[in-house]
Amino acid sequence: MAETSDGVMSDIQPPLAMLAELTHRCPLQCPYCSNPIALSRRTDELTTDEWIDVIRQAAALGVLQVHLSGGEPTARKDLAEIIAGARSSGLYTNLITAGVLLTRERLAALVIAGLDHVQLSIQDSDPVNADRIGNYRSGHARKMLVADWVREAGLPLTINAVVHRQNLDRLKEIITLASSLDAHRLEIAHVQYHGWALKNRAALMPTHDQVQAATATVEAAQDRYRGKMAIDYVVPDYYARRPKRCMDGWGSQFFAVSPRGHVLPCHAAESIDGMTFSSVREHPLDWIWRYDDAFNRFRGIDWMSEPCRSCPHRYRDLGGCRCQAFALTGDAAATDPTCEFSPHHEALVALAADDAGSGAPRYRYRRYEQTAVSERSMVSGVR
Ligand code: SF4
Ligand code: FES
Repeated sequence: MAETSDGVMSDIQPPLAMLAELTHRCPLQCPYCSNPIALSRRTDELTTDEWIDVIRQAAALGVLQVHLSGGEPTARKDLAEIIAGARSSGLYTNLITAGVLLTRERLAALVIAGLDHVQLSIQDSDPVNADRIGNYRSGHARKMLVADWVREAGLPLTINAVVHRQNLDRLKEIITLASSLDAHRLEIAHVQYHGWALKNRAALMPTHDQVQAATATVEAAQDRYRGKMAIDYVVPDYYARRPKRCMDGWGSQFFAVSPRGHVLPCHAAESIDGMTFSSVREHPLDWIWRYDDAFNRFRGIDWMSEPCRSCPHRYRDLGGCRCQAFALTGDAAATDPTCEFSPHHEALVALAADDAGSGAPRYRYRRYEQTAVSERSMVSGVR
């Protein structure tokens, strides 16, 4: 990276999107939650004014969209104020919500404040299993109401469905449900095994047959719903031969801000032991984006070792996912083991088969724990 006379790194592009994790509080306890194991407490959360200021700084830095997430962002009573702040900074706002805390009146207030889009999660098409996965009674029924209210309010609706061994056999019904809710987009994402999902990997890992059937189902549905409902599909890493271009590159277009103000190159970056992240309480956002060690650590391709360093695919996939490399090997700079050229790839294939055949272990639900467990200590990886 070249440095100009004013000390600015010249080839760092501005980010396009910010994920604002307003809180880790959430009434649901999904076992695949991407939040860190050590959840932030309410008393540590950024204040209303701090969030509005971060959003203003983000807009000045070049961000176009802010995704309001958590935990459950509607657990913040000041959500409308934060949305109004984003609107006055000229940003497009997307609310990523489990929905169960919303009322029709509250949603209307958020729309008046400037909300542009709602992304509503569902756990399954089957209400009983959906409520079991989220560990929240009658949550599914509430979500169906919320989808109606979003449509009434005239906002575009995306349905987000995280899929795994315990709901994948109902993928066709999940797609039909999203269509019946008038979703303009459906995101079907296989579980990414960081954080809580890593703890629950044996309970969630799909079988190879399920993955093949799911891919065929999605492809048929993409044809069937073309022009009516867009269907995005995030494939399951453990069954891939090449890694995904995670985050479209570390420190490239995206950053997340945690509830207590840490700025992260990826929403799961705090799962990497040994990395430290700067806070918006200590540094301006612009400085963090350009100069923070955590952002520059895996920017571009200079950090790569073999086999990535000399691989012709390195510009396309940028070496895959750093959080996954850490979760599986204990080394965030390793080649992502989902890559067939990784020395860990065969072990990963065996590990996926083992987990998928492990019956139905009980979920370890996401909740505040007395003792924080580091990611490293719970990994059953491929080392
Ligand atoms: Fe991508 Fe590295 Fe695998 Fe090459 S070796 S395909 S750059 S992850
Ligand atoms: Fe963090 Fe891929 S999830 S880099």
